[in-house]
Amino acid sequence: MNEQALSVRDAILTRRSIKNFNVQPVDTENIAEILEDASWAPNHGNRNPWRFVVAASGEYTAFLDVLREYGVPKWKELDEDALEQQMKKFTGPGAAVFVIVPEDARQKERLEDYAAASMFIQNAQLLALDKGIGTCWKTPPFLDNPKFRADLGVKQGERIISMLQFGYFDNAPKARPRVDMTELITYFGREIE
Ligand SMILES: Cc1cc2nc3c(=O)[nH]c(=O)nc-3n(C[C@H](O)[C@H](O)[C@H](O)COP(=O)(O)O)c2cc1C
Repeated sequence: MNEQALSVRDAILTRRSIKNFNVQPVDTENIAEILEDASWAPNHGNRNPWRFVVAASGEYTAFLDVLREYGVPKWKELDEDALEQQMKKFTGPGAAVFVIVPEDARQKERLEDYAAASMFIQNAQLLALDKGIGTCWKTPPFLDNPKFRADLGVKQGERIISMLQFGYFDNAPKARPRVDMTELITYFGREIE
């Protein structure tokens, strides 16, 4: 193990969703390693309810072309400069991983599978941080666009739950405060004040 590895606690506390990436590419090998390790996430019945489409290096450029072409319908009206302005949110990261989960017909299993895939995603975010790579879980509307789903090879009964962006960054944003946990915890059997 890397001697300078972050403690689990430090990783959880210091991870931030990175929204400004610095355009440096992320190697496919790095992404593959992160996904391999993240697959140790808990998941009920060992169903491994996830699969992934990785776009890194040249594939990420190809994804950006798809986005320019039809990703956001209202971008159709824009001239080239205005379009590139809108594209900045997407041209900064070096890679994206599209996380695909089965949509089980049974509600309990479907919720469990989404929960397990979410744990996979946080594992991936923390493992990326350990390599100095930032991440952001994004849910843009084009993830549900039938044409985009078809381009990714997503089948009926599957859902893309995340465009997980990966990239290098110069500064992490400041943490947004969380709700004070004392407001959210009550203790079984104790009277509520
Ligand atoms: C299910 C889920 C969906 C998210 N979708 C988006 C998104 O579409 N766009 C975005 O900018 N951030 C998105 N985020 C990231 C949150 O905005 C971010 O986690 C939140 O602001 C807290 O910041 P932190 O992660 O730096 O602590 C999403 C996070 C989760 C868990």
